[in-house]
Amino acid sequence: MKLTCKDSSAAIGSADLLVLFGFEGEKAQLPAGVSLPKAAALDFKGKFRETRLADVSGGSIDRVLLVGLGKRADCDWERLRRATAVGVKRAESMGLASMALWVSEPAVEAGCGAEATGRTLAEAAVMGHYQFDRCKSKPTKRKLERVVLCGPGREFAAGAKRGEVLGQANCFARDLQNAPGNLMTPSNMAEEARKIARASTAITCKVLDEATMAKLGMGALLGVARGSREPAKLIHLVYKPTRRAKGSRKIALVGKGLTFDTGGISLKPGARMDEMKFDMSGGAAVLGVFHALAQLGCEHEVHGIVPSTENMPDGQATKPGDVHTAMDGTTIEVLNTDAEGRLILCDALAYAKAKVKPDTILDLATLTGAVVVGLGHEVTGIFPSTHNLRDALHKAGEATAERVWPLPLLDTHKEQMKSQVADLKNISSPSMGAGSSAGAAFLAHFVGDTEWCHLDIAGTAWGGVERDYVGGSSGSGVGVRLLLEYLHQG
Ligand code: BES
Ligand code: ZN
Ligand code: ZN
Repeated sequence: MKLTCKDSSAAIGSADLLVLFGFEGEKAQLPAGVSLPKAAALDFKGKFRETRLADVSGGSIDRVLLVGLGKRADCDWERLRRATAVGVKRAESMGLASMALWVSEPAVEAGCGAEATGRTLAEAAVMGHYQFDRCKSKPTKRKLERVVLCGPGREFAAGAKRGEVLGQANCFARDLQNAPGNLMTPSNMAEEARKIARASTAITCKVLDEATMAKLGMGALLGVARGSREPAKLIHLVYKPTRRAKGSRKIALVGKGLTFDTGGISLKPGARMDEMKFDMSGGAAVLGVFHALAQLGCEHEVHGIVPSTENMPDGQATKPGDVHTAMDGTTIEVLNTDAEGRLILCDALAYAKAKVKPDTILDLATLTGAVVVGLGHEVTGIFPSTHNLRDALHKAGEATAERVWPLPLLDTHKEQMKSQVADLKNISSPSMGAGSSAGAAFLAHFVGDTEWCHLDIAGTAWGGVERDYVGGSSGSGVGVRLLLEYLHQG
């Protein structure tokens, strides 16, 4: 699908469908030269996501789809995203090759200006058209080839360009997530990272193999990998800005790249185990960010670190009670081999701290089932070490509708992770509850006093409510737009 922009005052040109938004209780604003049949204008109430198709005559447009935004006062970016996706999906299902979307001045105001509106419409158009069909022997042919976004001036077009890149990066991450475990192994993830680096002079990629990890002493990560025939990888991407502006920082993004989590010897129940192909969603988000950085750039130096392995039961696999030593020398008693995310992340965090020395670390991981209990599928649980980071991530979450909410990480949670046998144990006693805080407390041990936030995306990486451009049972690409917004904010 090719996305282009036009100034809203220019002639729309020919398109198989013209999509127009309307507010509830208001007469729909129309571009010059387009008039609606009376019946359509009367029928259409403008309720959020309401649609009305109408034939129009004269000019280069034959068909109009009105899409409701609801009451003007309730309209926000999220409604614009959803209404855009409704339009794109309808054009696709009607088998049309081209579509134009024209936004009126009040809708641009609701979208907080021309740039933000352009960005919002473009990302939603791209995301709304996403389909995962890599595994179909005969993929359904996509019909919609051309989408023209008509909005006010250069700022709108610049926003749309950015939005297109953001949308594509989200879809790239979703492709990685949705791929089944046999097609998205640690080696496959590493190859995807290398491809990203090859496409940009600003990005380099290093992939550490098991021998290198062993030399560095990454016993926790390698302890998880022991049960798998697939070699583990540690992906390290670096984005360097062409020139470092004042105030620019070094930021490390660490993503859990567990390509399939059976639980290991502490085997998971069979029901819905297939969903554990999504356990690499944190890693997918980090790669997605770099996919966009290749085109958008960023004032900060950004490191993307993805520890990647499978978690499998096997004669060689780590057993409950085994002790492994992490890169920083911490010894860990593995009481439950299913709490493996923290084991691969702790070596990645120790690596980031020792080798990158970042100002800020953000890690994304499908870490605990408990966060799904607490926050469901719409909100990511975050554990920010500073108020600044909490506020910045919250702001980014609201802007992207990839919502986040802080959860507590107390000294008592850290105490609970101490082991009688080793320095740490990988689970707290089940009677303590607060499973997500326990996971975060384990990770906290490895970041020391570096500014840090752990984002538990176990609920949000897949399985959210259908929201037209995202949601449902497949991967959501969560984290990509959130982190890019955070990086963009400064
Ligand atoms: N990958 C899972 C967490 C998960 C569970 C994500 C369900 C999404 C949906 C993680 O590795 C895990 O198994 N965590 C355990 C930790 C427990 C053993 C302390 C969990 O949450 O049950
Ligand atoms: Zn697990
Ligand atoms: Zn896991």
